[in-house]
Amino acid sequence: MIQGNSSSRDGFSTKFGVIAAAAGSAIGLGNIWRFPYVLGQNGGGAFLLIYLVFIAAIGIPVMMSEFTIGRSAQLNPVGAFKKIAPGKKWHLIGSLGVVTAFIILAFYTVVAGWTLEYMLQSVRWLLFPESSGVAGLTGDASREFFQEHYESFTNGIWRPVIWFLVMLFFTGFIVVSGVKRGIEKYAKILMPVLLILLLVLVFRSVTLEGAKEGLVFLFKPDFSQIKDAPVKVILEALGQAFFSLSIGMGTLITYGSYIQKKENLANTAVSVAAADTFIAVIAGLAIFPAVFAFGINPGEGPELVYITLPVIFQNMAGGLIWALMFFLLLCFAAITSTISVLEVIVAYLTEQLKLTRKRAVFLSAVSVAVLGLICTVSSDVFAVFNASPDILLPFGGFFIVVFIGWFFSKNSLKKELSSNGARKIGYYPVFLFLVRFVAPLAIVFLFAIGVYNKIINVFPSMG
Ligand code: PHE
Repeated sequence: MIQGNSSSRDGFSTKFGVIAAAAGSAIGLGNIWRFPYVLGQNGGGAFLLIYLVFIAAIGIPVMMSEFTIGRSAQLNPVGAFKKIAPGKKWHLIGSLGVVTAFIILAFYTVVAGWTLEYMLQSVRWLLFPESSGVAGLTGDASREFFQEHYESFTNGIWRPVIWFLVMLFFTGFIVVSGVKRGIEKYAKILMPVLLILLLVLVFRSVTLEGAKEGLVFLFKPDFSQIKDAPVKVILEALGQAFFSLSIGMGTLITYGSYIQKKENLANTAVSVAAADTFIAVIAGLAIFPAVFAFGINPGEGPELVYITLPVIFQNMAGGLIWALMFFLLLCFAAITSTISVLEVIVAYLTEQLKLTRKRAVFLSAVSVAVLGLICTVSSDVFAVFNASPDILLPFGGFFIVVFIGWFFSKNSLKKELSSNGARKIGYYPVFLFLVRFVAPLAIVFLFAIGVYNKIINVFPSMG
């Protein structure tokens, strides 16, 4: 029955298409905007090390679990839990994912809009260099210039709102055209090009004078850097790992439902996680040498890359052309992520509530528009939305691994992972151990010390 169902369903056509689409979801502003600034705020190399452990021990098992749930049920997150565990409450995890999708889509599309602003500014500077006043600025002066630009832009109303709506429109437009024609086609071409551009940036950044300090900051774990707030650092590394891999809210349950039965889920998950992590580290390599070379504060916050990148471009021959290409591609990388978030909501609305695809996209886009507008107007709301995935995603991820580890039929699990016996799954005992024990216990433990920490901060006498 599942097979019959799948043949009429839209889906990814090739193995490379699957990986490109899932990697397209994973790779985005989370790697290039969020990862560097969160790492910069949390002590550098020590954060990176903790992050990598979470990707391997928790991230990959959660990702495989999501693919398994999605592909075995061939449905959206809510429908999938309802079908696999009828009459139980598991579908609430799917619903939480849909709610999380609205929140993420709202603030993420706003940040994606900043990318458009920078792209346009690069064009302006290319065409009318005298109007920009940037020629020849270096170091502090240029940093100030860009910071001012950044602040006047993000504090303004109209430009951020317009760019946000433009990004939202494109996202909706692609999702309306469906999985194969829309998502797969764009991801396949654009992701590799982005990587090449990033490598060019890395080359420029590491050859700057004073770059070495940035490399040390990024790669040398210095645990004394995080001793003031180790719990915060660890929880943010966990949240960032989930955010960056697009896991914990059903994005990859939804994409999993479009994967063909013959595809190797473990292999896909490992490839996607590796590609995502590689890009995050490469982004760090592009940013931090320049941050230190130009005396920018690594703990600057969400504006870090938007201050640092333009300074790098200024120090490159033909910098504005590089800038233009880079921001354009960053936009595409953001769109391959926003479409995956919107697809969660749309798959839910079309399959559970039987809306047409067009209606579903329209309805969700209008709701996201309202939330996103609030984000552009209020930096407090933006900050809360931006921080909430750190909790919501690991929370969802906990139930996803517990479901696979303890409740999902082990026969079906083996069948999915082995493509119905066609493939050996020597890793199975390790996988089962990770989803049954390591991942859920780690998440519970980390949340528990997080809560404990909050309590002793509020009532210091208890500590
Ligand atoms: N992983 C995406 C990024 O790193 C963001 C995202 C989060 C996408 C959650 C889907 C779900 O940019």
